[in-house]
Amino acid sequence: MADRVVLAYSGGLDTSVGIGWLKDATGKEVVALAVDVGQGGEDMNDVRQRALDCGAVESIVVDAKEEFADDYLMPALKANALYQKRYPLVSALSRPLISKHLALTAKSLGADSVAHGCTGKGNDQVRFEAAVAALAPDLTSIAPVRDLALTRDKAIIYAEEHGLPIRQSAASPYSIDKNVWGRAVETGFLEDPWNAPIEDLYEYTQDPTVQKDADEITITFEAGIPVAIDGVSLSALAIVEKMNELAGRHGVGRIDVVEDRLVGIKSREVYEAPAAMALIEAHEALESLTLERDVSRYKRGVEAEWSNLVYDGLWFGGLKRSLDVFIDDTQKYVSGDIRLKLQGGRATVTGQKSAQSLYDFDLATYDTGDTFDQSLSKGFIELWSLPSKISARRDLAQ
Ligand code: ARG
Repeated sequence: MADRVVLAYSGGLDTSVGIGWLKDATGKEVVALAVDVGQGGEDMNDVRQRALDCGAVESIVVDAKEEFADDYLMPALKANALYQKRYPLVSALSRPLISKHLALTAKSLGADSVAHGCTGKGNDQVRFEAAVAALAPDLTSIAPVRDLALTRDKAIIYAEEHGLPIRQSAASPYSIDKNVWGRAVETGFLEDPWNAPIEDLYEYTQDPTVQKDADEITITFEAGIPVAIDGVSLSALAIVEKMNELAGRHGVGRIDVVEDRLVGIKSREVYEAPAAMALIEAHEALESLTLERDVSRYKRGVEAEWSNLVYDGLWFGGLKRSLDVFIDDTQKYVSGDIRLKLQGGRATVTGQKSAQSLYDFDLATYDTGDTFDQSLSKGFIELWSLPSKISARRDLAQ
């Protein structure tokens, strides 16, 4: 049997041409694997068929939407994961999942290598290959666009010469990646960070400046995970999909950043992630209500580190695994209801309650019924400021 390579197949120009290109350059049979992470846009059966028409020996579609929501998006939500405090890791979260399916498929079909359609300039090449290395160290990764010099111009010529059934999406000047957690748009006129984004870029969100009545919804969490909207129990995936709709309608979650890529380049990115941003807002509020002060403060640092690791392609690494254990432990009491108002591009928390709440009305109130003994504060402050007092005496004596 000829050697085989399993290619992460999107259905687009690069990976469609990549099938023949890989075969010509390596002599390997190409198996196409399309992983559905909620990118939408096209029937996955059409995607499957296109890979066969482009010369794949086998073409597989995996519906990984539930797995993506349960095993990747929910951990990210528990971590309130934002890279550089802004980017909810949309693409960074899908790569380890796709890589896992690449490795599994390669193993089950006896392939010795996997392939992806990333260029040599981005983060995604690192994420695919680092994840595959961690899961199946004996597999080789091939990147036709990067390693076999498959440029866009060459791809178009190759597709024409070989009569490949490519959808003409060549009109879009943007590089877009999307899944159920959000949408990433780059290149084109956005490469000048002085150029403001235009309304045309967006697909998951409506214009937040158009006046609309607010929507108010209640999200129920159990142990850090959203389980219901307005009292209706839903799967994690269904909640994310529903929040994309609800928050997207109000233009929540539009993000415009200059981002630090792992490969050293700064790049201008426009994202829209309505569900992600609204859910993180709600989840953080519930944590404020239920986590002890020091746990909460420490967790903010862990969250930043977790986000860096995931951004940098180390999803399956040891440190990320250990941080997950810490994060999971903090979520034990993060249960309750958050009321969110959606309007004008913002998701605002307007109500919060939890049976595990640490908020004690009798301690907090300034009205009668106050049980907080204010006389204790005096001594506490004496001791709290004692080190400052002692060092100040020394400093002033110099
Ligand atoms: N900059 C983002 C990241 O590294 C998004 C990458 C999206 N990929 C793309 N081909 N547009 O996670």
